[in-house]
Amino acid sequence: MNNTLTIALSKGRIFKETLPLLKHAGIEPLDDPETSRKLILDTNHDNVKLVIIRASDVPTYVQYGAADLGVAGKDVLMEHGGEGVYEPLDLHIAKCKLMTAGFKNAPPVNGRLRVATKFVNCARRYFADKGQQVEVIKLYGSMELAPIVGLADIIVDVVDTGNTLRANGLEPQEHIADISSRLIVNKASMKMKHEQVKNLIDLVAEAVAK
Ligand code: ATP
Ligand code: PRP
Repeated sequence: MNNTLTIALSKGRIFKETLPLLKHAGIEPLDDPETSRKLILDTNHDNVKLVIIRASDVPTYVQYGAADLGVAGKDVLMEHGGEGVYEPLDLHIAKCKLMTAGFKNAPPVNGRLRVATKFVNCARRYFADKGQQVEVIKLYGSMELAPIVGLADIIVDVVDTGNTLRANGLEPQEHIADISSRLIVNKASMKMKHEQVKNLIDLVAEAVAK
């Protein structure tokens, strides 16, 4: 049996904030994804590799077993649906909130509200639960621009300080979910590589609790 553990991470805040947790588990990458063009990073353990991918692709890699474990924001997990993965640990990193946002004192909308977001499933579910019919417009980034240029009435996006919204004349409105990043595990890996996976989860959990 292949005894290599592959961990999927995205560059930027998740990589930076996961690094100390992995270090506590004795795992240190041999390259920095910000400077290296490598997509698979070796670590100080021959049998542990890090794959560096887009944040929204992490659940997919773990679902299909292309990675045994991964770190993904709860926003990304809610959007993906979570099939094929366990979510054993809240890492309490990359904390933010999933919210609606729009112009302060915007006049009421005639007809369906247009909602721009990259979280189309989350947005559809949220408004369906409220019994509100909306038109969801899929974007891949810079959601804040959509109300300014008249593409949408409101957006659904993650908010931390609120600075990005304010800088674009928008305000946070309805709270959809509190978000933090989670350690996720492929369901088959949890069974087939149980010792290794359990050991890593325990060490990372210790680091989170410190
Ligand atoms: P992709 O590359 O797939 O579009 P992304 O650019 O949103 O993803 P990051 O910006 O690195 O990727 O965000 C990763 C995760 O960090 C998000 O899924 C979210 O959970 C969290 N996050 C996003 N923005 C913030 C923020 N401003 N403050 C804190 N956490 C955040
Ligand atoms: C995220 C998100 C918001 C911003 C919110 O973008 O898409 O634009 O953070 O944070 P704030 O409330 O503290 O301003 P990020 O900075 O990750 O850039 P991105 O567009 O590359 O994801």
